Amino acid sequence: MASALTRRSVCAAVSCIARTSSARVTLIPLRSGSAISAHRAISAWSKVSLGPPDAILGITEAYKADKFEEKINLGVGAYRDDAGKPFVLPSVKEAELRLLNQILDKEYAGITGVPAFTKLAALLAYSPSSKVIQEDRVVITQSISGTGALRIGGEFLAKWYPYGKTIYLPMPTWANHGAVFRDSGMEVKSYRYYDKSTISLDLDGMLEDIEAAPENSIILLHACAHNPTGVDPTPEQWRKISEIVKKRDHFVFFDMAYQGFASGDADKDAYALRYFVEQGHQLALSQSFAKNMGLYGERVGSFSLVVDSAEEKKRVDSQLKIIVRPMYSNPPIHGARIAAEILGDQELYKRWLVEVKGMADRIIKMRHLLKQHLEELGSTRDWSHITSQIGMFCYTGLTPEQVDTLRTDYSVYMTRDGRVSVAGITSKNVKRLAESIHAVTK
Ligand SMILES: Cc1ncc(COP(=O)(O)O)c(C=O)c1O
Repeated sequence: MASALTRRSVCAAVSCIARTSSARVTLIPLRSGSAISAHRAISAWSKVSLGPPDAILGITEAYKADKFEEKINLGVGAYRDDAGKPFVLPSVKEAELRLLNQILDKEYAGITGVPAFTKLAALLAYSPSSKVIQEDRVVITQSISGTGALRIGGEFLAKWYPYGKTIYLPMPTWANHGAVFRDSGMEVKSYRYYDKSTISLDLDGMLEDIEAAPENSIILLHACAHNPTGVDPTPEQWRKISEIVKKRDHFVFFDMAYQGFASGDADKDAYALRYFVEQGHQLALSQSFAKNMGLYGERVGSFSLVVDSAEEKKRVDSQLKIIVRPMYSNPPIHGARIAAEILGDQELYKRWLVEVKGMADRIIKMRHLLKQHLEELGSTRDWSHITSQIGMFCYTGLTPEQVDTLRTDYSVYMTRDGRVSVAGITSKNVKRLAESIHAVTK
């Protein structure tokens, strides 16, 4: 062993001397007095510029550094229970126990994932009675949660959509949408969605912009619980949106990251998607199980497309595989198995529905309490948007300056656009939150 080491050291020394003959080699003296060579005097990454920090992570850092005991973090994009703690759904725990008892192997899934999961995910979104399900016209692949689904969709559309590579996103939209689609090779444009002055949907602006987009454009729609505004169209407004989309032959890409989590009813939250399918739109869908099953870090999601025939399904499926394979070969299995266990077992499925409703109801209750406290404090502002908005996020209408004051003077943390993660509100902190908001908006 000792002689082998010695031989290796000798070889290293020889190669070191050999390399010193290169003009690009520098001798770096070591503390011991010997020297090593480096190929480059300057690091290969010396020109890499410092990227901006993630806005949400920046808030979390500032929150962590705050020593005030009653500080409130409203930046987190994950559900918290009424004690402010992360929540693992009991149905998820039960599914995991069942999986553990089955002592399953850890073999690779196929490129498009765990078939039991994708089948059930499609049923949850489109519903078993949907024509496109009954006619076997949904192509689906498992994905790395919702983000991965959007990315697969972006890549597929950039490669195969015959009428251009432009996608229209609502303004504002989830902070990652633009980057996902740009990095997929698409051009990103936006349509009006939210009216700051009324803190509600800018339906006229939205319809005007969608109508003005060139025919056959791709329009991204949040299926429910629009992030970041919490403002969703009503069924009547969805009807108008569908009409304009149809009139202009646009293609719709639904992003459904909150099915069940928005209203507490998985069917109600799928209303827009199912209505568009009924209306004959040939659409794409991204699904995430991060929020509604609390499977955040397990990265469970799916991307699907409604196609015309079984024959077309085969072709599209083959191309989805060609997109996925070089990205990550095949998706992780554990989270998908959990979701499949829940969705595929009547009893567990019912329990899950109750639990999702429990999460949605807690969020709705916090919205009401916040509004009620603001009114009791004598705020003369109209806070009705707090309760009319839906889902985890609330666009408060607070200005960036008010948000800054809330942070510096009241230890209340949220993004500068005034977006509040309602999941960060608890029965314990809601009163202090209302007092702080009232103080900066008087
Ligand atoms: C609108 C929207 N789409 C997609 C996602 C993707 O989430 P994930 O990749 O965690 O499923 C999110 C997460 O916050 C979201 O709000």
